[in-house]
Amino acid sequence: MNLVLMGLPGAGKGTQAEKIVAKYDIPHISTGDMFRSAIKDGTELGLKAKSFMDKGELVPDQVTIGIVRERLSKDDCKKGFLLDGFPRTVAQAEALEDMLSGLGMKIDYVINIDVDQAILMERLTGRRICKNCGATYHLVFNPPAVENVCDRCGGELYQRADDNSETVKNRLDVNIQQSKPLLDFYETKGYLRNIDGQQDIDLVFADIDKLLGGLK
Ligand code: AP5
Ligand code: ZN
Repeated sequence: MNLVLMGLPGAGKGTQAEKIVAKYDIPHISTGDMFRSAIKDGTELGLKAKSFMDKGELVPDQVTIGIVRERLSKDDCKKGFLLDGFPRTVAQAEALEDMLSGLGMKIDYVINIDVDQAILMERLTGRRICKNCGATYHLVFNPPAVENVCDRCGGELYQRADDNSETVKNRLDVNIQQSKPLLDFYETKGYLRNIDGQQDIDLVFADIDKLLGGLK
């Protein structure tokens, strides 16, 4: 099961990715998570990525393609993978096609979580994440049982550095600009499947699950 999860910032990629990898037991490869972990560890990659992420810009293709190539060559990806937030440009998509054909693999589905742009600002500025286990919440749409405390592990919740309204606005502009040519690229290849991301979280997952059930 080789999957790509697409969607504008706040569409629910991370939320759905957690559910998909838990059910289908494939590695979750999120370029955003990889960059945030490199920033936390203070590595050279982290330093490079931070200046772009803080502004809501894309990290340059060369850097991003490099880390995905390295990750996909690991043994655990032989049983399948879920790419979350990569590719985000046509250049990245073309590089991915090359990487996979070199590994004798191909994409099964590109799942695009479709959400109206007007909703995304509210989803992103209200998002809170567990410091300890990374679980995602929303102040209004998916609140924890106890304010500021993770339901799953009791950890403290925080707001992502790029979830302030000014950076969110730029992230949305940048991603909207890139997304149309990328969707066209995958539509032409026949991989694209659109999912309505404006339903309840569990209903979005039910639609994805139905699609993936056909692959097993
Ligand atoms: P990344 O971490 O990938 O962020 P993003 O694409 O901006 O997406 P998000 O993680 O913000 O949103 P999501 O779709 O996962 O939504 P979530 O499930 O959390 O990238 C960050 C940065 O890294 C980029 O800006 C860039 O600089 C860099 N980067 C990463 N990949 C790159 C690449 N390939 N090339 C270049 N640069 C790259 O949900 C959002 C909120 O909504 C949550 O609070 C959630 O609880 C809530 N929610 C989710 N689903 C629903 C629902 N159905 N109904 C109501 N609320 C919902
Ligand atoms: Zn937690």
